[in-house]
This record gives sequence, C-alpha cells and structure tokens, in this order.
Amino acid sequence: MYIYNMAKILITGGTGLVGKRLTKMLVKNNHEVLVLSRKPKKHNEFRWNLSENYIDEKALENTEYIIHLAGAGIADKRWTEERKKVIIESRVKTANLLFNKIIEHKINLKGFISASGIGYYGAITNNRVYKETDEPGNDYIANVCKQWENAAQQFSNNNIPIAILRTGIVLSKEAGALEKMKTPIISPLGSGKQYIPWIHIEDLCQMYLNAVEDNLTGIFNAVAPESHTSKTFAKTLAKSLKRPYIAIGVPSFLLKLMFGNLSVILLEGSKISAKKIEKKGFSFRFRTLKKALNNL
Ligand SMILES: NC(=O)c1ccc[n+]([C@@H]2O[C@H](COP(=O)([O-])OP(=O)(O)OC[C@H]3O[C@@H](n4cnc5c(N)ncnc54)[C@H](OP(=O)(O)O)[C@@H]3O)[C@@H](O)[C@H]2O)c1
Repeated sequence: MYIYNMAKILITGGTGLVGKRLTKMLVKNNHEVLVLSRKPKKHNEFRWNLSENYIDEKALENTEYIIHLAGAGIADKRWTEERKKVIIESRVKTANLLFNKIIEHKINLKGFISASGIGYYGAITNNRVYKETDEPGNDYIANVCKQWENAAQQFSNNNIPIAILRTGIVLSKEAGALEKMKTPIISPLGSGKQYIPWIHIEDLCQMYLNAVEDNLTGIFNAVAPESHTSKTFAKTLAKSLKRPYIAIGVPSFLLKLMFGNLSVILLEGSKISAKKIEKKGFSFRFRTLKKALNNL
C-alpha cells in the first residue's frame, strides 16, 4: 500500500474562505500547515508585507509546497483605478516576492500551486465551452488572471512544478457569493442567459489536496461539470431554499449603477469545461448544483 509522507505546506491568504477550509482538510490528512497573513493571529500564522518586501523567514524553513491564495477580493469593492491596482498587486507582486525569497533562501520547493479565475477567458456570454488551452480574454479580469498565472510560471521556469486552478464561484455556507445570493425573493441577474461557473468548496479543496498528494501539475479549470445560467442557477437556489422565484432579472442598469465596471462579471459568463481534471481521475462529490445546494 502507498503511504503518503506528510508534507510541510505554506498557504498565502490561508485566513480566507478557501484557505480556512483547505487548512482543515490538509491538517486532517496529516500535513503541516503554515499560513502567511498580513495580520497573523494564530500560532501557525506568519507575517508578510508586500511594501516592506518582507516574509517572516520562519514560514519558509523546509517548506515543501506553497499554495498561493492571497488576493484582495475581486467583487468586494468598486473597481476604482486604485482598487484595480490592489487586486493585481496582491496576487502578482506577492507571487514575485515568494519567488525571490524561495531563490534567496535556497528553499527546495516541490510544488507551487496557485489560484486563478475562470475570468481568464474573459467576461463573455456565448455558446463556447472554454477549455484550458483556449486563449485568454482581453478585459480587466482576464488581464489580472494572465499576470497572476505568469507570476506562477516563474517557478516552473526554475524547475519547480506548478499547478494552477482556474476557479469558478466557490459555494460555501460560511460566506462568499452564495450568502449574497440568498435574497428573500430570488431572481436572475440581467438577461439571465449568462453562465455562472461554480464549484463546491469541498471539491475545490480536494483539488488542492490532490495537487499536493498526487503531484497534479498544469492548468486546470476548477468548476463543477454541471453548468448553469443565471436563470437556472436562481431557480435551483429558490427551490433549494424554498423561497419565491421571479423570472424577471434584476435589471442590468441597476447592477451597473450599484457596482460600476465590476457588474460585467455578474452580467456575462460562458460555459467552462471540467473535462481535463476529470480525465486526471478527479471525482466530483458535488457534480450537480442541486446536490451542492442541498449540502450547503
Ligand atoms: N471565492 C471565490 O468564489 C473565488 C472564485 C475564483 C477565484 N478565487 C480566488 O481564490 C483565492 C482564495 O479565495 P477566497 O475566497 O478564499 O478569498 P478571500 O476569502 O478573500 O481570502 C483571501 C485572503 O487574501 C489575503 N488578502 C486580502 N487582501 C490582500 C492584499 N491586499 N494583499 C495581500 N493579501 C491579501 C487575506 O489574508 P490576510 O488578511 O490574512 O492577509 C485574505 O484572507 C483568491 O485569490 C480568489 O481570487 C476565489
């Protein structure tokens, strides 16, 4: 029987929605988990600071894997020029900082695993099913994802294996998008025709775990196989919560007024293929939205 040796794993942004759940899963699987945070609080959290070019050296000692989840929330605030810069730098410059410190301290890293987003393909609604080999889009978020992934490629260029998970909307009962969708009356957004690629947080964390334990390398879409438009998503959610559903979408102009440029990621979206990760043997616990929502 193959027994996997415990690994020492450093998670950036490990205090966030995905990081907290992932930490629990990794610890349950006997891995040692350290977290990089701007404001460390717990015993396993260590400080880093981008403007000071600083990472607490203790966090890097004998680290075998880095999971890079840090990043200012993409949909948390309006996209002012200043906010756009923070969104990029908190992902790209932090990856650069990690890379420089790994080289400087001659850390023998076995893998660098980075989050990315399905926004890589651009906020477009069409009939294509986007797969990992497709070209990136041209809008702001596509650009963020391109730079984020390029930063991860530095590790690969130095013979450190990398895995990149282009993640859809993460469904969790703790927080995140699902909490915001649970309105008293549920309705689609805008035309309702845009796709909402989604993934249950358990499946996403299992993918990160597999990236460590099975040496999964390369770029993967991290989305559930069952795709939904805003309309079918809202209908399924209303049914699951036993709340009223109204087919008339929240008007696009209202969302533009409320969220500015950021509304584009709410109003546009295409189908994303989950086939590549499935071909690698990944088995989704939550393939259908109904099953995911019933669980959450
Ligand atoms: N949740 C989703 O639906 C979703 C979808 C697609 C992609 N992703 C990506 O997956 C990753 C993890 O997602 P998540 O939902 O767990 O994110 P999250 O809850 O927002 O947590 C991200 C963490 O990043 C750190 N962070 C925030 N602003 C930062 C800044 N300006 N500089 C450096 N670090 C900063 C924070 O840690 P400290 O405060 O401890 O420093 C925070 O806990 C993110 O990169 C996200 O973009 C998420």
